[in-house]
Amino acid sequence: MESIQTLKGQSALVTGADSGIGKGVAIALANAGASVLINYVHNHDAAQEVVNEIKTTGGTAFASHADVSKEEEVQAMFAEMYKQYGTIDILVNNAGLQKDSRFVDMTLDQWNTVISTNLTGQFLCSREAAKEFIRRGVVEGRSKAAGKIICMSSVHEVIPWAGHVNYAASKGGISMFMKSIAQELAPHKIRVVGIGPGAIKTPINKSAWDTPEELAKLLTLIPYNRIGEPEDIGKLAAWLVSDEADYITGTTIFIDGGMTLYPGFADNG
Ligand code: NAI
Ligand code: BGC
Repeated sequence: MESIQTLKGQSALVTGADSGIGKGVAIALANAGASVLINYVHNHDAAQEVVNEIKTTGGTAFASHADVSKEEEVQAMFAEMYKQYGTIDILVNNAGLQKDSRFVDMTLDQWNTVISTNLTGQFLCSREAAKEFIRRGVVEGRSKAAGKIICMSSVHEVIPWAGHVNYAASKGGISMFMKSIAQELAPHKIRVVGIGPGAIKTPINKSAWDTPEELAKLLTLIPYNRIGEPEDIGKLAAWLVSDEADYITGTTIFIDGGMTLYPGFADNG
């Protein structure tokens, strides 16, 4: 794909980049000229396919294993990043999962797994990236910022979600985490931005779109009347980490076809 190389000379780390939104974001960043670390936790082959796809179009990428909820694994992945690319310019905290259950039946393990991956994972990766951004500072001619962090949130940062309280709590937590570190890191010329996707067609929500009946039900929640694609998120992420978005920090950009517009009120209330 022909695209403007707004991220030329920069290196990016995308967590959970072997699937869905992470894959879409990694490809978009590579198309914009960034060298990309493709993080995966379980599926090495899928990560390698993303690497190959990026290389086929002339980009630079490699796959690196780490469970984002494990401190030593995250630190080892950052060490690998510095060995390969020397430094980091862009972190995309994308890895996430759901362990759904009725609240009264939810196990501590379901709660802890979601919080430690979706929220603690963003803390561990952001802390490593911020240390390097501060150590290195702004590099003249590369980017106006010393570093950029994207926190993949969700419309469930603001929309409560019965049957998914662990997930909604993790995304609500990401909102205040993102804003608080944005406030602390802004004087260092580090930007931190949230992305709040609505329903995007990926494996995480397959049951919500893989039959015509379920898709029709889902579309009643989306005024724009289509499900999102990983490419929608990739394009937004590539723009947000470019200097075109240099004045944006500490806010979540929702990208949801209107899911946060309370569609139930369109003909009611
Ligand atoms: P996905 O299931 O296709 O991708 C999730 C990725 O995270 C996978 O690569 C998975 O292996 C990885 N992952 C899970 N636990 C991990 C761990 N401990 N360490 C490293 N990687 C881990 O799902 P999707 O949709 O691409 O999700 C990506 C992000 O987008 C998640 O944070 C999710 O909450 C968020 N999101 C997704 C939406 C959707 O409708 N698909 C909407 C809003 C937010
Ligand atoms: C969830 C998806 C869901 C979407 C819209 C995302 O955060 O991971 O399962 O389809 O929000 O509700």
